[in-house]
Amino acid sequence: MTYDDEKKLSSKKVKSILKTQCLGHDFHFFEKVTSTFEKTKECKVSHGSVVCARSQTNGRGRLGRQWDSDEGGIYFSLILNPGTNAHDFGIYTVICALGVQRALEKYLPCYIKWPNDIVSEDGKKLCGILSKLEFSGNDTGMINVGIGINANTKSFDSKLSYASSLRLILGDLVDENEVLSLCLYEIEKCVLQKDREKLIKDFSDVCITVGARVRAIFQNGDEITGICKRIENDGSIVIDKDDGTSLNLNSGEVSVRGIYGENYV
Ligand code: BTN
Repeated sequence: MTYDDEKKLSSKKVKSILKTQCLGHDFHFFEKVTSTFEKTKECKVSHGSVVCARSQTNGRGRLGRQWDSDEGGIYFSLILNPGTNAHDFGIYTVICALGVQRALEKYLPCYIKWPNDIVSEDGKKLCGILSKLEFSGNDTGMINVGIGINANTKSFDSKLSYASSLRLILGDLVDENEVLSLCLYEIEKCVLQKDREKLIKDFSDVCITVGARVRAIFQNGDEITGICKRIENDGSIVIDKDDGTSLNLNSGEVSVRGIYGENYV
């Protein structure tokens, strides 16, 4: 086994180092899938299941975008069953973003760009998160939280100049098994955190969007600018607009860009 092989994702190694009570104990691992969202439909999953792949041929991102998923990244769907609060599922992107930020922070300084990106000190995207409500139709639907981490990604297409990886920033390979098991461990702590206010405060403390001047772009192309004042307990943001009014936005409806500094989509 080469040095590189030891650091590549393997179901056996993830399971052997996992320190969670529940998340990831049911672990479905694949070399290549279209998208872990698609693959989840073929697996028997329940709360805490993880469907993970080394690469995806049709990775999906937010707002209908494509998610480049070459080998070296970590691509997984985490299934959460929030019981009766499935319609509150936007908050799970926030919960998981804080967990992933805490895990990646063990490797390098990083922050959250609301609602779903983990970015490096210089604003490069290291991870994206997209939550979907699955098996819906009643209040007990499951949430599929899709997480893509640029762990050992060697290079990015020139159109992704806003992206980077742990490997590119650290100048060394990371152990993908450790990154994933640490993420699941930190996400589980956040999922189990019952004090929502504390969770939002912790999120806000590491969120570069809070206090920043931002441009919010709606799916119909409309834009507004203002200052992001705070994150609400449901995970939405409050923007004080330049015209003096205030607006509450949730993650499904807008793309928010910092006007100074972090200009990626
Ligand atoms: C974004 O920032 O736009 C969200 C990206 C989410 C990517 C992950 S990778 C695992 C899961 N499967 C997908 O097809 N997408 C998500």
